Formats: sequence, C-alpha cells, structure tokens
Amino acid sequence: MLSVVVLISGSGSNLRALLDAAANPLYPARILAVGSDNPAAGIEHAELHGVPTFVVEPGRFATREAWADALLANIKHFEPDLVVLAGFMKILPPNFVQALSPNLINTHPSLLPEFKGAHAVRDALAAGATRTGVTIHVVDEGVDTGPHLAQAEVQIHPGETEAALHERIKVVERELLVDVVKQFAEAKAQQPA
Ligand code: GRF
Repeated sequence: MLSVVVLISGSGSNLRALLDAAANPLYPARILAVGSDNPAAGIEHAELHGVPTFVVEPGRFATREAWADALLANIKHFEPDLVVLAGFMKILPPNFVQALSPNLINTHPSLLPEFKGAHAVRDALAAGATRTGVTIHVVDEGVDTGPHLAQAEVQIHPGETEAALHERIKVVERELLVDVVKQFAEAKAQQPA
C-alpha cells in the first residue's frame, strides 16, 4: 500500500479525487495527511474523510528555507512514500525538493514544457493556443521542469473563458492524477521489500 501526503493551496478538487479513490479498498494508496500553506478551503475535504491536516504559513517564518523546513518536518512526521503537490501554489526551495524528490510529484494545468508557472491556463489563452492540457511530473529544483510522468490533452473552445477552460482541464487532471498515484503504488508493490 502506497502512503501519500498531499499538499494543497486552494479548493482541493484534485485532493478530493484522491481521497475518494483511496476510500475504495481496492485502490492501492492511502492518504495519510493533507498540508497547506494557508487555511485553504480544500482542507475541508480532508476533514470530511477524517484525514489529519496541517497548515504551515510562510508569513510566520523569517525565510523561505525555514518555512520549507517546518513544512518538511510536518510531512516527515507521517513518513509517506509519496508527496503530491495538488494545486500547491508556492515554489519550494532546493532543501525541500532534495529531501523528497523523486517521490515528490506535481500536477500542472498545461502540456509542459508549454506554459510553465502560476498562470498556465491564462497564458495558453493569451497565446492563442488551440489545445492545452495537463502534465503530472516529478518535482525538481526548477519551476515545472521535472521529468514528465503523464500528460493529457484538452482542446480549447473558441471564445472560452479562463475559468471555463480550467474547469474542463481539472476534470481530466483529477482522473490522470488518480491514475498516476495508482501507478506509483503498483511500481512500489513490485519492488523487493
Ligand atoms: C489545478 O489545476 C492545479 O494543476 C493548479 O491549480 C489547480 C488546483 O485545483 N495548479 P484544485 O485546488 O485541486 O481544485
């Protein structure tokens, strides 16, 4: 069984999809805890599933590194096999990434390497793209630069708003994330104990 900690910053619909999947005894991963950098609305999904939560706010620390160390300490308390950034909107410093990668993955709403960064959906529309999508990748020390694990394409409808397109991407994203975590679990099950 793969043990997972999920980090979020917002509404947590990807988190909810993972929690719902993990509620099925046949799904090979369990969510041990959910962390956030702010009192995010999505924390409620963890609470509804009886999953412990922690909030570590950067504003309470003198440096980004000190904040990341505190976040890491909270994660390590649960000793997860995998950490999933599911809409976690803070850039993590190298000390954090080095401690967890390659068992640290992120989901990003574009077909990387196109449209890296915090405004991927807006940037795809501004560029006049006709298609975009979602990428799930291992986190390295760059921003949205790590090795890709899976991608799915979404066509952009003419005149579509950022919010409408992002919602359609998220439908695909949730399914892909649940599938990638399952693949991680299956790979772990095949490793010698
Ligand atoms: C996702 O599209 C994620 O890729 C992006 O922000 C969105 C988070 O959605 N970085 P949610 O909080 O999981 O609903």
